Amino acid sequence: MENKPLPFRFSRFVANLQPSPTLSLNKRAKELGAQGKNIVNFSVGEPDYAPPIQVVESARQALKDGLTTYGPPGGSLKFKDLIRKKFKSDNGLDFARDEITVGIGAKELLFHSMLTLLRENDEAILFAPYWVSYKDQIMAAGGVPKILPLPENPKKDGYIDIPKLKEAINDRTKLIILNSPNNPAGYTLTKENFQEIADVIAPHPIWVISDEIYEYMNFGGAHVSFLNAVPQMRSRTIIINGLSKAFAMTGFRVGYAAGPKKAIGYIKGLGDHSSTCIPPFIEEAAITAMELGFPVMHEKISALRERRDFMMALINEKIKLPYIEPKGAFYLFLDLRPVLAKSKLYAPSDSGGFCAWLLDEAHLAMVPGEAFGSPGYARLCYSTSRSVIEDGVNRLVKALENIK
Ligand SMILES: Cc1ncc(COP(=O)(O)O)c(C=O)c1O
Repeated sequence: MENKPLPFRFSRFVANLQPSPTLSLNKRAKELGAQGKNIVNFSVGEPDYAPPIQVVESARQALKDGLTTYGPPGGSLKFKDLIRKKFKSDNGLDFARDEITVGIGAKELLFHSMLTLLRENDEAILFAPYWVSYKDQIMAAGGVPKILPLPENPKKDGYIDIPKLKEAINDRTKLIILNSPNNPAGYTLTKENFQEIADVIAPHPIWVISDEIYEYMNFGGAHVSFLNAVPQMRSRTIIINGLSKAFAMTGFRVGYAAGPKKAIGYIKGLGDHSSTCIPPFIEEAAITAMELGFPVMHEKISALRERRDFMMALINEKIKLPYIEPKGAFYLFLDLRPVLAKSKLYAPSDSGGFCAWLLDEAHLAMVPGEAFGSPGYARLCYSTSRSVIEDGVNRLVKALENIK
């Protein structure tokens, strides 16, 4: 009998999934690199430096010690207590052990939060530019992303459009997602911003996910945690954080979530039935990182800040395009609309077309704003060396001279 494919419809959860645009761009950049092309890659989304050596040694030792079996689902008590200590000392927040859970990266915890909070056709509000996976995670959970655009002039009007937020809320709105410091725009939100947002949603039965994964990469002053700013939102807020960016541990895959016991219980339950636990030798490394704390990364983060200043100075001097003031994370969100408006080849917001051309012609990879719901912009990652930053900006200058 012939082995024909079944006339099969896959589940509604995956029907609308899009491949991650940042991952596919990185893939194309790597392909060109493999063909011997000298690529400047501003499209990456991770620190370019290694985690602290003590963290690596700790994982190595734990493997030697035989920590190769399943670990405690939702995180060991030791790790959870260190997370609680961190919330207390860095954010002034008290969480009990059953208000914390640990997962395979912030990404898994975000996904399990969507699965926990959303029912079919519930709306979740995203503020563009947003991190790419939120949208697909909302859809995979059966929800509907409602995307609010970046204000036309963010410098003047801010990053969150409060009147638009008010308008967007209806009976189906279940969730809003906040992300400060922000990927891709690098902006940070203030206590006043959070208070304004909380005032709008307080009368409605809406949850908040506050993704604070870039907390330590904050160059504009102390990080403001959502719940520290608006403690009255505690019964309906989940804070997501992790070690990927803070300790340059992206490949270790460790994240944590804090929130009301019931919701955290469900998020943990989803983890129990999917990944079970983080690998125990990884947990040992994560414990070491948390024990060392922020001071161990201080030098690296200062270096990151210098590179941000370097990229900003080069762009101010040579490119003279507007951008969102990057106060945190490690991205600069460049406004390409003034050049696209003059071009005959590209529509005024076609940063996707422009970035594809830039990669093929100038061998410079930047992520187009379309990936984050803000066409007309592009994300440039400055977590790379000064010489690469300089090379990339020079390529961009030349490309802009040749744009048709
Ligand atoms: C805003 C944001 N949230 C979450 C994540 C996922 O982090 P993790 O590596 O902990 O899964 C990322 C990674 O790029 C991110 O940029």
